[in-house]
Amino acid sequence: MFRHFHSDINAVFENDPAARSRFEVVFTYSGLHAIWAHRIAHSLYRNKWYTVARIISQFSRFMTGIEIHPGATIGSRLFIDHGMGVVIGETCELGDDVVIYQGVTLGGTGKEKGKRHPTIGNSVVIGSGAKVLGSFKVGDNSNIGSNAVVLREVPDNSTVVGNPGRIVKRNGERVGDRLDHKQLPDPVIEMFREMQKEIDGLKSELEKLREPVAGGDLRK
Ligand SMILES: CC(C)(COP(=O)(O)OP(=O)(O)OC[C@H]1O[C@@H](n2cnc3c(N)ncnc32)[C@H](O)[C@@H]1OP(=O)(O)O)[C@@H](O)C(=O)NCCC(=O)NCCS
Repeated sequence: MFRHFHSDINAVFENDPAARSRFEVVFTYSGLHAIWAHRIAHSLYRNKWYTVARIISQFSRFMTGIEIHPGATIGSRLFIDHGMGVVIGETCELGDDVVIYQGVTLGGTGKEKGKRHPTIGNSVVIGSGAKVLGSFKVGDNSNIGSNAVVLREVPDNSTVVGNPGRIVKRNGERVGDRLDHKQLPDPVIEMFREMQKEIDGLKSELEKLREPVAGGDLRK
C-alpha cells in the first residue's frame, strides 16, 4: 500500500506544471488524498471489511469530492486533477499512468450485472466531464475528450470525442468517419450555378429570336 507513496507524488509533478513543491503536493492535492484513502479502503475491502471500507471511501468523498468505490482496482501513478465530481465504480479497473480530470464518471449503464464498469488501459487521459459507461475496455494510450460520453470499446491509441463518443483519431491519423469539410455542400455557390445556367438558356433563346426570319429582321 505504501510502496506507491513516492510514485503517486511524482505523477503529480509529471502531469501538473502548476505543482511547485512536494510539501505543497502532499498537503493540497485532493486527488492524491482520495487515492491514498482508496488504497486503505481497497485493502480493507479485499479482506472483506466492506462496511469499514465504505465508511473510509465516503469520508474521503466528503473531504475531496472524489468518490472511488473501495472495490475499484487502480494501477500505479494515477493522477486525478482538481477531482471534484469524479466517480469511479466498484468493478472499474484502471491501468498505470492514467490521468483523470474533474467531473469524470467511470460508471455503469444500469443494464449490466457483475462486471459493469469500464476497464481503463495504461496511459489513458480522460478529460473533464467525460462519462465512460459500461463494462468495456478503453485501450492503452487513448484520449477521451472533455464531455465525451463513451458507450463502446475504445481500441489502443485512439482519441474519442462527442456524445455519443466517436473515434476521431487512431494511431495519430484522423479517422474518416467525420465530415470532410472540403466536400461540404455550399448552397450559395449551387444557387449561382443554377442562375448561370438559366442566364445561358435565356441568352441562347434571345439569340434565336434575333436571327433574321422570313418577312423581316427582328433586329430592326
Ligand atoms: C481529446 C484531447 C485529449 C485531445 O486529444 P488529441 O488526440 O490530441 O486530439 P486533437 O486535439 O488532435 O483533436 C482531434 C479532433 O477532436 C476535436 N476535439 C478535441 N477535443 C474535443 C472535445 N473535448 N470535444 C469535441 N471535440 C474535440 C478537435 O477539435 C479535433 O477535431 P478536427 O479533427 O475536426 O480538427 C483534448 O482535446 C481534451 O479534451 N483534453 C481534456 C483536457 C481537460 O479535460 N482539461 C481540463 C483541465 S482543467
